[in-house]
Amino acid sequence: MSLKTPAFVLNETQLLENLNTLASISKQSGCKILYAVKALPSAKVLEIAKPFVDGFSVSSLFEATLAREILAGEGEVHLTTPALIADELYELATLCSHINFNSLTQHNRYAAAVENETSVGLRVNPKLSFVSDDRFNPCRRYSKLGIDIDALWHSNQIEQVSGLHFHTVFSATDFKPLIQTIEKLRSYFGKSLKKLKWINFGGGYLFHSIQDHQQFIDLVIDLRRELGVECYLEIGNGIVGNAAQIIASVIDVFESDGKTIAILDTSVNHNPEVFEYQRSPTVLQHHENGRFNVILAGGTCLAGDIFGEYCFQHPLQIGDKITFENVGAYTLIKANRFNGHNFPSIYVQRTSGELELVKNYNYQDYQQQWT
Ligand SMILES: Cc1ncc(COP(=O)(O)O)c(C=O)c1O
Repeated sequence: MSLKTPAFVLNETQLLENLNTLASISKQSGCKILYAVKALPSAKVLEIAKPFVDGFSVSSLFEATLAREILAGEGEVHLTTPALIADELYELATLCSHINFNSLTQHNRYAAAVENETSVGLRVNPKLSFVSDDRFNPCRRYSKLGIDIDALWHSNQIEQVSGLHFHTVFSATDFKPLIQTIEKLRSYFGKSLKKLKWINFGGGYLFHSIQDHQQFIDLVIDLRRELGVECYLEIGNGIVGNAAQIIASVIDVFESDGKTIAILDTSVNHNPEVFEYQRSPTVLQHHENGRFNVILAGGTCLAGDIFGEYCFQHPLQIGDKITFENVGAYTLIKANRFNGHNFPSIYVQRTSGELELVKNYNYQDYQQQWT
């Protein structure tokens, strides 16, 4: 099958490798694994992940509904969100096996209404910052994410719930943050932890980039033995992040103030974090010693719709393909059709090498949104 650009191509082999790694860690440690649907809620991904995970973690009614549809009666659905809406509470409680309240206020208001339907937990902010950029730091000052650990200790509300949830890291490649967080929770809550049924460590760990998982496995085995709790991970980026590429075509090449600009048939519309966080995604064709410097730019009217300056071994020409790597997480889900530019077509590269078209958007999809 010939590939139509711009294309979002999911690599099933890589996805399965990531899932197998987590399934093996789960087997050795007893830690339960959830796929954090927010990273890429493609039903294809959920279907592929389903046999390897204990369920899905979600942040809204839509995600919870999709997760339940895919699970078809099996598995767990864990909800964590600062955006819990009273009108949706009952439906959420029927869909979700676990609900984590983000604040003491919400726990006080809503717990009684749902605790017969679902297992109730609290998201704690352990106030340990492991991320230097505050935009990604759930433990930043004045954080809106989770209950301040001191406030939780004073409230004693941990005694009223079945579980504790925290999520403190972003793309972490070692387990020091987790170890420190557990130590701090132990020092604050001591024996109360033994009354819990579960602890959810959140996501943010890139297991495929960590060589030695033994520290994690030992930590979970100890926690489960000592406290008698179930442990959960809810991983998004570490499952889909390195399992997709965006492939684009060069549609124009010209000079601007002495630099070569290549306009692509993709844009920051398809990977908004490039603009939001001013990061340059990895480009497969970039060569450190390439003699031809080119600014790769998206085709929208936004002046800052730029991926960055890259080096190539040959001058770029109209029709050349550019491949952005490691774009599986938080790209397509944040994509938009600004300027009337279509979404990328979605393909799965099967383990057999076969390319399967999953989704192709057209004018009717755009029209439906705006009329
Ligand atoms: C509460 C919570 N859990 C899990 C995740 C998934 O994190 P990641 O995709 O980095 O594994 C996130 C990401 O924002 C999150 O906010």
